Amino acid sequence: MGWKGILGFEYGIVQAPLGADISGPELVAAVANAGGLGFLKAPDWESTDYLRGLIRKTRELTDKPFGVAVVLAFPHEDNIRTILEEKVAVLEVFWGKCSKELVLQAHRAGVKIVPQVGGVEEAREAINAGVDAIIVQGREAGGHVIGQEGLISLLPRVVDLVGDHNIPVIAAGGIVDARGYVAALALGAHGVCLGTRFVATVESHAHPLYKRKLVELEKTEYTDVFGRARWPDAPQRALATPFFSNWELLPHENELNQPVIGHSTIHGQEKEIRRFAGNVPNAIATGDVESMAMYAGEGVGLIKEIIPAGEVVRRLVEGAQLLIQQKFSDM
Ligand SMILES: Cc1cc2nc3c(=O)[nH]c(=O)nc-3n(C[C@H](O)[C@H](O)[C@H](O)COP(=O)(O)O)c2cc1C
Repeated sequence: MGWKGILGFEYGIVQAPLGADISGPELVAAVANAGGLGFLKAPDWESTDYLRGLIRKTRELTDKPFGVAVVLAFPHEDNIRTILEEKVAVLEVFWGKCSKELVLQAHRAGVKIVPQVGGVEEAREAINAGVDAIIVQGREAGGHVIGQEGLISLLPRVVDLVGDHNIPVIAAGGIVDARGYVAALALGAHGVCLGTRFVATVESHAHPLYKRKLVELEKTEYTDVFGRARWPDAPQRALATPFFSNWELLPHENELNQPVIGHSTIHGQEKEIRRFAGNVPNAIATGDVESMAMYAGEGVGLIKEIIPAGEVVRRLVEGAQLLIQQKFSDM
C-alpha cells in the first residue's frame, strides 16, 4: 500500500535533491516533518564546512531523519566523507558510478545509499553493488536527465530486475499528484520522487519568478542548451519560457562566451550568472532572472499553486489512500 513508508520513513514520498541549492534546510526539514524523505543538495565542489553547516541547520529545524545528495560528476570525496561523518540517514548519488566500495563506505558509517538511475543496465549495476533503494528517473523528469526511456516502461523493467531483492524502487519523472503516485505503485514502485512539485513550494529556495513560471507555464523541452561548459553531455528538461523559446535555435557554443545576465550567492559562493548557464535562479538571484534556466518536468502543467511542502506530502498520501479506496478496493 502506497502510503506505507520506505527506508524507515513514514511515507513513500521523496523530495528530489534540487541543485544547485534549491533544496536547502527549510525545504528538507518541512518534508521530513511531514513524514517524507527530503534531500539536501551538496555543493558541486568540495566544501566540507559549508556542507556540515547545511546539515546542522537542517537538524535545528527537524528532529526527523533526512538525506543529502551528491552529483558524482563533480569533485565529491571530501563532501561524501562529511555526509558520512554526520551520519545523515540517506546518501543519494547521481551521474556517476555507484561502486561497491562507495556502498560499503556508506554502510560502514550506518548511512543508506540510493542512486538515481536512468536505465536497466545502471539499475543492474546498482543492485549488484548492494544499494538500499533505487530511484528510477524517466525522461519526463525535470533537471538533468540521465536516460532516454519513459517512466511507464522503464519502471516495471527495473521492478522485475530487482525481483526478490529487498530494494525499494522509487519512481521519478513527471509525478505531481496522487494520481501519479498511484500509477507508479501500480507499475511496481514502492515510493515516488518529486522534483518540480517541490520547487514550487513555499519553502524551496527557488526565485519567486521561477516558482510563478512553474504555475503559469505548461510546456517543457528536453534540451542541452544550458551549462554545456560546466557540465558537458548532460541534457536537461527545462521550462519552455519565452527566453528559451526565442533562443533555443540560435547557435551558441556554450555559456563561457555569453554575457553576464545576473548574480547570486550559491552555497556561500558569489557567482556571476552568464546567459545559458546551467544554474536555475535561487531566491537571491538578481538581474535578468527571466532569461535564466528554469528546469521542470513534464508534469508542470499540473501545478496550479505554490503550497507548503508539508501540504504536498499530505495531499499525496491522503489522495492516494482515497483513490485506491474509491477506484480499486472493490474490484
Ligand atoms: C531544479 C532541479 C534540480 C535538480 N537537481 C538534481 C540534483 O542535483 N541531483 C539529482 O539527483 N537530481 C536532480 N534533479 C532531478 C530529480 O532528482 C528528479 O529526477 C526529477 O526532479 C523528477 O522529475 P520531476 O521534476 O518531474 O518530478 C533536479 C531536478 C530539478 C527540477
